[in-house]
Parts: sequence; structure tokens; C-alpha cells
Amino acid sequence: METVVLIVGAGPAGLATSVCLNQHSIPNIILEKEDIHASLWKKRAYERLKLHLAKNFCQLPYMPHGSDVPTFMSKDLFIEYLDAYVTRFDIKPRYNCAVKFSTFEVSNNKWRVEAENIVTGETEVYWSEFLVVATGENGDGNIPTVKGIDTFPGEIVHSSMYKSGRDFKGQNVLVVGGGNSGMEISFDLCNFDANTTVLVRTPRHILTKEEVYLGMSLLKYCPVKMVDTLVMAVSTARSFMYGDLSKYGLFRPKQGPFATKLFSGKAPVIDVGTVQKICDGKIQVINGGIRSIQEKTLTFENGKKQDFDVIVFATGYKSSVCNWLKNYEYMMKKDGFPKNPMPKHWKGENNLYCAGFSRKGIAGAAQDAVSVAEDIRSILATTIY
Ligand SMILES: Cc1cc2nc3c(=O)[nH]c(=O)nc-3n(C[C@H](O)[C@H](O)[C@H](O)COP(=O)(O)OP(=O)(O)OC[C@H]3O[C@@H](n4cnc5c(N)ncnc54)[C@H](O)[C@@H]3O)c2cc1C
Ligand SMILES: *[C@@H]1O[C@H](CO)[C@@H](O)[C@H](O)[C@H]1NC(C)=O
Repeated sequence: METVVLIVGAGPAGLATSVCLNQHSIPNIILEKEDIHASLWKKRAYERLKLHLAKNFCQLPYMPHGSDVPTFMSKDLFIEYLDAYVTRFDIKPRYNCAVKFSTFEVSNNKWRVEAENIVTGETEVYWSEFLVVATGENGDGNIPTVKGIDTFPGEIVHSSMYKSGRDFKGQNVLVVGGGNSGMEISFDLCNFDANTTVLVRTPRHILTKEEVYLGMSLLKYCPVKMVDTLVMAVSTARSFMYGDLSKYGLFRPKQGPFATKLFSGKAPVIDVGTVQKICDGKIQVINGGIRSIQEKTLTFENGKKQDFDVIVFATGYKSSVCNWLKNYEYMMKKDGFPKNPMPKHWKGENNLYCAGFSRKGIAGAAQDAVSVAEDIRSILATTIY
């Protein structure tokens, strides 16, 4: 099968790219390995997830959220929005098509993409002039190698497979990772009476979603240093009753929250109530990493030993692009993230593009989709057949 633009992945980034291309009447096909669009949101997100960012930072091109939509949407509401987007713009991804291989053929200047049809098991071959990678920053769950992990008799879950604390009532659970997923999963486990410990490795800013919203809104008008000073003042005033959180094992980076995000990519953690539970002693914090595992017993870098029934790895994700994109070096580094700096990170060589790799969430993916479609339009406009 042949088309002008092939898009791999029917998450928000791929859907938005297709819609933007359609607006320019550029033929395109989306290949999606799952049997649904937005599979991250539908299959790989925990139940209690709410969007951490305000709705105006979580919308796709040509369809802003209505005024009746709450500022902070639930996961289900966001899924409804994505479903409505697909219906409204009549996007028809080819589902159950897992892309396994793609190469740029120099002989005809086209991309050759091989996909496995998950239902029939057959290999389908697609050709296109342009290839857009939209498989997401969260392609594969990242589980670090830990000495002795194979001797652990209990359950080991990655955060992408975690659904609810309901399944872990009364158990001793270790959550590895003090980022957004780790902190929220700890809160959820504790709510369901799991004996919860969270392993926090690096200093992180912990803010409320309102404080983050304030900062993001101000960033349009003020320099980052000023925004950080203001947000930190608000945050300190709000959380004065907790006192110095370092006595609970929660340390702050030296730089402000938005400077930290800008320079190291680490977003502030949005507190859903975890801090209160930590201060109340309902959730334990251990600093550092795991040194080794021996059956049920974990030894930490600080020498402490503790038995656990379950380990939840909230240790982030890996891009999976390099597994299937053979000529990734036209655009990506070995880690599956763009090699070109912003704001042209979405463009590679030989008509290769990506959307959704700017570490700027849905707003970033939406912006990439607009840029990619516009670039393809301008190339096609100057091509003489
Ligand atoms: C728990 C969690 C919460 C988040 N909350 C927010 C938030 O509140 N606000 C925000 O802005 N961002 C948030 N994000 C970031 C989020 O990743 C993005 O906002 C968004 O889902 C990314 O869209 P995407 O289309 O780039 O990738 P994805 O949504 O991951 O979609 C990629 C699609 O590609 C498909 N695919 C992958 N490999 C192949 C292949 N080889 N062949 C065919 N198809 C393939 C996948 O099945 C998937 O459907 C969150 C992320 C996580 C993990
Ligand atoms: C709960 O976990 C803590 C520390 O991780 C441990 O000291 C304690 O014994 C556990 N409680 C029970 C009832 O197992």
C-alpha cells in the first residue's frame, strides 16, 4: 500500500498530525499496534489519574476544550475528548498494525515500512514519501537492573501496568521512584491500606497543580527566575505547616521548579496528598537506591534491610523508536530522542519527522503536529511532478 505520509502511532501526537495533514488535504495513514487509539490513556494509565496540567495545556489542534470542561480533567474526560476528536475529524487509524521495521530506500527516495498485522500474523508493507514517528516518549517501561531481582518471589509491576491499590491491600509494597507516577501510586496504595514505602533518589520540587498552573501561565509574560521566586513564595506559604520536608526524606533541588524543568527536563512533582501522608507517617520514605535483592529482602544503598511483598517500578520510560526505525540516525540519537535542538527537533533527514518527543506533554505534541504538517505542506507545494 502506498500513501504520501505514514504516521506510526495513534496517540494524541499521531491523531493531531493526521488532522493537521487533512486540513491541508495531504493523504496520510496512521498505523497503530493496539486495537484502539490513545492506548497509553486507555490501557497503560492508573485508575485515579487526573491530568496534571490545566485543560488549555492539554488540547489538540482545531478542537479547544469547551468552557463547561473543568480546568483539571479526569483521565476519563480526556479520553472522551480524544474519542470525540477522532469522530469529529473522521480519523481511521489502521489498528493492530505493529510496525516492526522501516528503512529509507535510496533507489526511489521512499520510506518502506513493514508492519505485522496482530490479528492475522501477516506482514504488510507500506510505502510513503514522508514518515512521521509518533510512538511516544513512553514507548517501553524502564525497569533498572538490580542485583538479585530474579530471586524476588513477589510481584514486580511497572507503573504503566499498575491500576489500583485495591489489588495490594495489607501487603508491604515498595514504590521505586519519587516522580509524579511514584508519588501518586504511593498515595493510592496507602488509601487502600497497603503498607507503603517510597524510594526517592533525587531531589524534586513538590508543588500543587494550581501552583504549576500559575507558573505556566506566568511564563508567557515573565522570565523564569521571577516565576520561580513567585511560585516558591506561594508554595512555601501554603506548606508552612509541614515545616522542613527534608526531615521526612524529601529534598528540594537548588534551582527553582521551572528552571529545573527547563535545564534538566525534570518536571516538578504534583502533590495529590502524598506529602500529608508522609508527614503523618503513613508512607515511609527511603532515600537512595536498591543495592541488592535476596528473595523477599531488599538491601538499600544506606545499608538498611527490609522485606517486601511487591515492588512497583515507577522508574519512567524509554523511547522504543530505535527498535523499529532502522535509519533512526536521520533524526534520533541512540536513546530514541531527537538529535536536533528545539524548536526544529521534529525534523530529520530524508522526509523523516517526529511528533510528541519534546518532553512538553500534550501541548508539545500538538505544537509538533502543526509544525510537521506545515513543513510537509510547504515541501509538497514546491515539488514539481
Ligand atoms: C501516567 C502519565 C500521565 C501523563 N499525564 C500528562 C498530563 O497530564 N498532561 C500532559 O500534557 N502530558 C501527560 N503525560 C505525557 C503523555 O505521554 C503525553 O501527553 C501523550 O500521551 C503523549 O502522546 P503521544 O501520542 O506522543 O504518545 P502515546 O500516547 O504514548 O501514543 C503512542 C502510540 O503509538 C503506538 N505505538 C508504539 N509503538 C508502535 C509501533 N511500533 N507500531 C505501531 N504503533 C505503535 C502506541 O500503542 C500508542 O498508541 C502523561 C504520561 C503518563 C505516562
Ligand atoms: C510496614 O513497613 C515498614 C517499613 O517499610 C516496616 O518497618 C513495618 O514492619 C511494616 N509493617 C507491617 C505491619 O508489616
